[in-house]
Amino acid sequence: MSLPTLRRTTLRLASLRNHIIHPQPLANPRLFQFHFQSQVHTMSLPTTMRAVIVEQTGGPEVLQFKTDHPVPTPGEGQLLVHNNISGVNYIDTYFRTGLYASPKPEILGREGAGIVAAIGPNTSGFNVGDRVAWLATGGYAEYTAVPAAKTVKIPEGVSDEDVVASFLSGLTVLSFAKETYPVQKGDWVLLHAAAGGAGFLMTQILKSIGAKVIGTAGGAEKCALVKSLGADVVIDYRSEEGKDWVKLVKEATGGRGVDVVYDSVGKDTWEGSLEAVKRKGTIVWFGNASGPVPPIPLPKLSPKNVKIARPTLFGYIETREEFEYYTNELFSLLQSGQLKTKIHKVYPLEDIAQVHKDLEGRKTMGKSLLKP
Ligand SMILES: NC(=O)c1ccc[n+]([C@@H]2O[C@H](COP(=O)([O-])OP(=O)(O)OC[C@H]3O[C@@H](n4cnc5c(N)ncnc54)[C@H](OP(=O)(O)O)[C@@H]3O)[C@@H](O)[C@H]2O)c1
Repeated sequence: MSLPTLRRTTLRLASLRNHIIHPQPLANPRLFQFHFQSQVHTMSLPTTMRAVIVEQTGGPEVLQFKTDHPVPTPGEGQLLVHNNISGVNYIDTYFRTGLYASPKPEILGREGAGIVAAIGPNTSGFNVGDRVAWLATGGYAEYTAVPAAKTVKIPEGVSDEDVVASFLSGLTVLSFAKETYPVQKGDWVLLHAAAGGAGFLMTQILKSIGAKVIGTAGGAEKCALVKSLGADVVIDYRSEEGKDWVKLVKEATGGRGVDVVYDSVGKDTWEGSLEAVKRKGTIVWFGNASGPVPPIPLPKLSPKNVKIARPTLFGYIETREEFEYYTNELFSLLQSGQLKTKIHKVYPLEDIAQVHKDLEGRKTMGKSLLKP
């Protein structure tokens, strides 16, 4: 190991918590062994890791797999998590294409689960070795420095895979069904992309509340999956018959329209959603899978006194109290088996471009996970 590298590593170690007595170089010069005062823990941290970097916006080809990216140092209030599983969400594609702005170079990936490997200064509530789930940025990597404020311990009996398959998506669904539009028993709900990562969970949550669910999905296999979750009406909006899904929704609701539409497809469905909603109904636009909803002239809402919302999950979990409220609810649903997850596939990190192609190509059902 060269002297500058050794000095950098030593400095970094010094910034880690005062549990550390002393680092000892191992046979592999890039590995250090730590001894922790508070617990009998031995933790090795490499200086470099596998990670996927995006330097410029573009198609899946801008996702660059590296094997020598520096392992981050946890700062104030942060934990360094050794990821076991990371989640892939549609929002990752928005940051990749530039639909949503973010500084580049960037490691995408908004969630993960793994083991706390190091603790930054002035950070409490966690120990090295804790099994945790987090929401932040940088999940397409072996290690991620994440805010402790957006990290929770995973309870016994819940797997890392189940947590990540339902963490960002599940918190979204729970908060949107409770706060954006408080879904009531008996409500007619139209849910687009009902077989997707968020849709699969949303269908179950809506049925558990007692809503009458009309789910749309593309293709017979996806529709069968949505039906198996108890959806009352399922429409294949890519089939010949289903192309006129507005008419089918009207028929199903006796001409009245639905109480609420949850629409994450955006560009291709927004006008139909506006037609399918009832007088005094609500439309929740929360995603852009087919492209963003264009600016809507407000008078378009007048004929039916329609309410619209454009929520983001993070607006509902800003405080620690809010974050814990929804994570506790999610974990208890997972522990009791009331909420099932569906994992499309666990991909190796180096296959990340294929994951984005599959997601944008509408080839996935449920959630895609990464094994860093
Ligand atoms: N606002 C928030 O805070 C928030 C949080 C989480 C998720 N979201 C949004 O929720 C949506 C679902 O996210 P997800 O990660 O669970 O993804 P996903 O639903 O697993 O994948 C997107 C699905 O959208 C459907 N789709 C319709 N038109 C499409 C098109 N032109 N191109 C690609 N897909 C199309 C596809 O299902 P079909 O083949 O069945 O049509 C596709 O499988 C996304 O729009 C995401 O941005 C928003």
